[in-house]
Amino acid sequence: MNESKITDSEGLITAITAERERLKADRLFLLTDEHTRELCLSRLDCKRLEPYCLIEVHSGDQNKTLHSLTAIWDTLIDEGATRNSLMVNVGGGMISDIGGFAAATFKRGMHFINVPTTLLAAVDASIGGKTSINYQGLKNEIGTFSKPDAVIVNTDFFSTLDHKNRLSGFAEMVKHALISDKYLFAQMMSYDLETFDVTRLKSLIEQNINVKYNFVDLDPYDLGSRKALNLGHTIGHALEAYSYRSQGENLLHGYAVMWGLVAELYLSCKKQHLDKDVLLQMLTFAKENYGAFPFSCKEYEEIYRIMIHDKKNDAGKIYFTLLAGIGDVRINQNITKEEIFEALDFVRES
Ligand code: GLY
Repeated sequence: MNESKITDSEGLITAITAERERLKADRLFLLTDEHTRELCLSRLDCKRLEPYCLIEVHSGDQNKTLHSLTAIWDTLIDEGATRNSLMVNVGGGMISDIGGFAAATFKRGMHFINVPTTLLAAVDASIGGKTSINYQGLKNEIGTFSKPDAVIVNTDFFSTLDHKNRLSGFAEMVKHALISDKYLFAQMMSYDLETFDVTRLKSLIEQNINVKYNFVDLDPYDLGSRKALNLGHTIGHALEAYSYRSQGENLLHGYAVMWGLVAELYLSCKKQHLDKDVLLQMLTFAKENYGAFPFSCKEYEEIYRIMIHDKKNDAGKIYFTLLAGIGDVRINQNITKEEIFEALDFVRES
């Protein structure tokens, strides 16, 4: 069931107020980070939400830590939050992950809603109830499955995103189209990312959110069919983690996913007879919009080692989600090291 409401800045405040009344919340907490406060919260008429308590954590995935988490819990305790209080997570995926986890565990669970401020969070992290912090250098190592009471998407926020962050969110949207519907895929491929027409984007976001809810509803605890959402991510996550470890900077998630998608569509053609036209269309789209693949073959071994240690894999085997056609998903596909290197070669040499 689609629980996301799509609105604008004015409608967002009205929607938060309505949720607070529906849940009969005794206190309101807004969780955010310093960038989101400056760029997004400052654009809202937050006076209409008073009284509320603002909790701020440092931005960035490197701050999705136990330290930030205890700071959130401490403020909740100091401010007298109860199980019947409402936390509103305003930010990207980092904020909905840590805020959802803090709320889900505070007094065994207080109310929370997600207000994604990035395209990426709107179509992915804010939906589906995965909450987490990073721990001992491992991403999302500690967390829960806890669904938010609501998700409210304010598309006005997306005008604050730079081009790269728009592209980053768009990659997850392309993935949703690939695992669901060739008409949506065609719409995605013809969308002009330079013009970034918000009216057309709204319709794409709505369809995308529905795709994610459909997969989550079928398999909320990620035991089987939800793995469809991992398309592009087995290689994508490894590229992202490798770039962080080797260059100390994150390749934006969606860029890693885009290159992961092209590589995994190559594997889909080879192992599942996916139509080559789909691969070529994706390759052209990726090259035109996301630039050149930024890794050399000397880096494959380390990228592979990261893949082997990914918590989604076990017993030294690497499992992929592949496609036999658009919307025809095959999960748990074991692929050899040689085939993975061949796929990376394809992306690099194309
Ligand atoms: N982002 C993948 C999932 O929610 O399962």
